[in-house]
Amino acid sequence: MSGAGTVRIDVLTIFPRWFEGPLTTSLLGRGIAEGELDVRVHDLREWATDRHRSVDAAPYGGGAGMVMRADVWIDACEAVWNDLPAGETRGRTVAGGPLPSDQALAGGPRPRTVLLTPRGRPFTQSLARELAAERRLVLLCGRYEGIDERVHDLVATDEVSVGDYVLFGGEVAAAAVIEAVTRLIPGVLGNDASSAEESFSSGLLEYPQYTRPAEIRGHGVPAVLASGDHGAVARWRRAQAEALTARRRPDLLARSVQPVMTADGPDVAGGPDAAGGPDAAGGEDSVAFPDNADGPGGAWDADRASAQDD
Ligand code: ADE
Repeated sequence: MSGAGTVRIDVLTIFPRWFEGPLTTSLLGRGIAEGELDVRVHDLREWATDRHRSVDAAPYGGGAGMVMRADVWIDACEAVWNDLPAGETRGRTVAGGPLPSDQALAGGPRPRTVLLTPRGRPFTQSLARELAAERRLVLLCGRYEGIDERVHDLVATDEVSVGDYVLFGGEVAAAAVIEAVTRLIPGVLGNDASSAEESFSSGLLEYPQYTRPAEIRGHGVPAVLASGDHGAVARWRRAQAEALTARRRPDLLARSVQPVMTADGPDVAGGPDAAGGPDAAGGEDSVAFPDNADGPGGAWDADRASAQDD
């Protein structure tokens, strides 16, 4: 996305009120209130055509549960792509045929349209960076029970999962995507993505942090942090980060961008636990995932390319 004031994210959901909390609170709420971010939440039912405003129907072939209707999703997405009032469609349309290309959409290419689903591409810092480079995003929150396959085929440019677990629907996943993406946009929410991100691009978990008071119930702070020796502090932190990553996420260490340094000095001998490190990996900038965390190319890129080219 290209800078302050130009970022637009549309969300389609049957629970628009769910987003009231995340979008009015904290940094995200402030960014929206101050006009740095343009996030629009749409009620999918606005595009339902019956008097019950239904968005689902019984599955062909039988079985339990209901399936979300592709016609409602298509109408809704066409309207959002074309920036039309709820219920209207024209302009960029999903053309006939099994896999329309962007050229088949009158009015130019679709914005990146992400369907949140457990069967999607794993959401990583690397994918967040990729999405943060877009001018517009459309996020589709399905209900997990089922969504007509033609939504996957005709509407979504991407399918994304936030983890190997099943949520009731895509709302929580969409909120995670919004937060991870918007904090990377340069000039938005006070972020300077280049410094905030690049200084954490080593692919290691964050080292333990301490603040006042110096002692709590007999638990102190590692002496090196109060030594005033900046070089020693940097070496200690690096060694702590490596030890923690090796213990908890060896998979990240294998992909780490920078060569692994050996721990030096007595401060690191005991590892993070001996140093009194927290059990959970730290705060929001605590993990820096390498660019290739989800691997270059592979099945996801191939799926995306074929959906766009056919
Ligand atoms: N919808 C339900 N579960 C999900 C998941 N793990 N990721 C993205 N969307 C989902």
